Formats: sequence, structure tokens, C-alpha cells
Amino acid sequence: MSESTFISPSLPTAEKYLLLEEQVKALVYGEEDLIANLSNIMAALKYGLNYFWVGIYKVAGDQLVLGPFQGPVACVRIPKGRGVCGTCWERNKTIIVGNVDEFPGHIACSSNTKSEIVLPVRNKEGEVAFVLDVDSINLNDFSDEDQKGLEKIVTIIESIL
Ligand code: SME
Repeated sequence: MSESTFISPSLPTAEKYLLLEEQVKALVYGEEDLIANLSNIMAALKYGLNYFWVGIYKVAGDQLVLGPFQGPVACVRIPKGRGVCGTCWERNKTIIVGNVDEFPGHIACSSNTKSEIVLPVRNKEGEVAFVLDVDSINLNDFSDEDQKGLEKIVTIIESIL
């Protein structure tokens, strides 16, 4: 495993995600422990993309529970249908929020977060098993390219569940 995960901030978004995809594949190669893999993937995303907070929540009963993340401490439990994360789970669909203040029921773990993207991570049956949450300190910071790139990362996560 390489220690270097530096991705130049000046690269075009699509190229950053291509590099990240390769890094994430290499990070999980030959390792079966889910917590270890998710932890390294969150670190690769945080330091590769430079967003404020990157983390994964696990579906546990009727709630989401905080899993491996990088960034400030966060809310531990989120009910289904609540906030952006709980809504992503309920709809089984990626949600991009350009301005969190305009999302009804947004859960503000940090007042620094201004926009976010949350993606469902599905098990083999197509049910949501986790949600991946990426938060930015800038308004409207997530594009279709981010969604496409992060969906590729989610596909890798789904393959190691
Ligand atoms: N903002 C999220 C909660 C998770 S934290 O931002 C890390 C939400 O509304 O679901």
C-alpha cells in the first residue's frame, strides 16, 4: 500500500475522482475488514477532495448510526426520513443540497456546513445498508461530476460489504 494519497487541488474534478478510484481500489485490495477499509476510504476522500467532513452512516434498525469519518465530531444517530441522510436512506437515492438552510429538516452537526451530498450504499439485495455523506463549507459545492465520481466510490464500497 502506498502512503502517498496526494491529489492536486488544481486537477479537474473528473480526474481527481479517477485518481481517487484507483487509490480506493488499492487501499482495500487484499483486506477484508470492513471498518479498516471504510476508515481508509473516508481518509482518502477527505484528503483527496478537501471537503469539510466525509463520513459514512450505517443502517441499524430504524436509525442511521455514525461510522468511520474524517472531520469534526458529528451526530451519532439519525432516524429514517430525518435530515439529508435519513431522507437519502428513505428515498434510496442520491441527494445534493446546494444550501443546507433551504433543506427542510436538515440536521446541522456543524454550522460550518453549507452544502452537502449524500449517497445510498446498497447491499446485494439493493437495500440501503449505509449512506455516504460529504459536507462542504461552501454553498453549491457539489456538481453532477461529484455525484458521478462519488457513485464510483460507492460501487467499490458496495463490492466490499
Ligand atoms: N447534515 C446531515 C447530518 C450528518 S452531519 O452533517 C455529519 C443531515 O442533515 O442528515
